Amino acid sequence: MNPIAKPAAGPGATTGPKALEKKHTVTLIPGDGIGEEIADQVVRIVQATGVSLGWDRQLSGHKAQAKTGSALPPALLDSIRTHKVALKGRINTPIGTGYESPNVQLRKILNLYASVRPVKNIAGLRARFDKIDLVVVRENTEDMYSGIEHEVVPGVVESLKIVTEAASTRIARFAFEYAVKYGRRQVACVHKANIMKMSDGLFLTCCRNVAREFPQIAYREVIADSACMQLVLNPYAFDVMVMGNLYGDIISDLCAGLVGGLGAVPGVNVGDGLVVFEAIHGNAPELEGQDLANPLSLLIPAVHMLDHLGESDAAARLMSAVSAVLVEGKALTADLGGTAKLSEMAAAIIAKLPAAGRS
Ligand code: IPM
Ligand code: MG
Repeated sequence: MNPIAKPAAGPGATTGPKALEKKHTVTLIPGDGIGEEIADQVVRIVQATGVSLGWDRQLSGHKAQAKTGSALPPALLDSIRTHKVALKGRINTPIGTGYESPNVQLRKILNLYASVRPVKNIAGLRARFDKIDLVVVRENTEDMYSGIEHEVVPGVVESLKIVTEAASTRIARFAFEYAVKYGRRQVACVHKANIMKMSDGLFLTCCRNVAREFPQIAYREVIADSACMQLVLNPYAFDVMVMGNLYGDIISDLCAGLVGGLGAVPGVNVGDGLVVFEAIHGNAPELEGQDLANPLSLLIPAVHMLDHLGESDAAARLMSAVSAVLVEGKALTADLGGTAKLSEMAAAIIAKLPAAGRS
């Protein structure tokens, strides 16, 4: 990901004065449910790479709501604005009722307008396909996620799909610039402009306009439902895909399914000068507090975070340790087909970490 200015260690570092001496400081948002226990193990693993990194751990979700009256307290937002980089677990959301998802609110408040989800096989992780390498670029601030809904009359509700020229052009340009920067060959715009002629029509027009500025990148358009089928039949036909918020949510899960599940795909939320690396999994209350969850959902985003911080040697060593543990198959959590606890899988990854400079 785009390296930005090195974050300065700022006030509020909960890890004490020592954090000020670290090369990097990152905001850590464990989230709710299994988030806390996963974050503890991910911190342990990242520290074991030897990278000089301090964590500014911030309360969010239910606990923050109870303590401060907000699921996203100002201290959390200030911390991300200060350190510029965050690692975030999932914050739970009431379904069908209650307040707007804090995960979505955070993207809007910090204007993290692009969600980048690199979809790649992880060596050793069983998957439907191999050699997959595509990237979903999702608009992250509007569309059906505007959260603007109302009851017109009893029994009739409306949910507004907001699409603006500004946000659509911004995400299209982001996708093409990403393609150029990372040597990609093609950008596909995913839409449903055959039905939503105005909203998706505008998104499509913006993509077409931006595509003209990048003649070196192949451009294609795919209708969303057909894109789902084509992805399952032949995912190799895709490279960078750009789309609105809702299609991006759905299609990124579909793509995660191609490479072994949600734990294999990081969410990288990018705004101007801020990046929040995020786990994209759902809620798993049945696993909570039992040391049974799979750490990959937050560990893979952490690998991308290390790369972003310029610690690519540590990132590569971490990935090779993860793959070694997956290939060996002796210390895997239940969802990966094993019987290990979360902390045992973490210990196994640490034991496989090559020394610095030997990835
Ligand atoms: C994701 C998640 C979120 C979303 C949830 C947790 C609000 O599914 O990041 O893909 O719908 O965007
Ligand atoms: Mg999702």
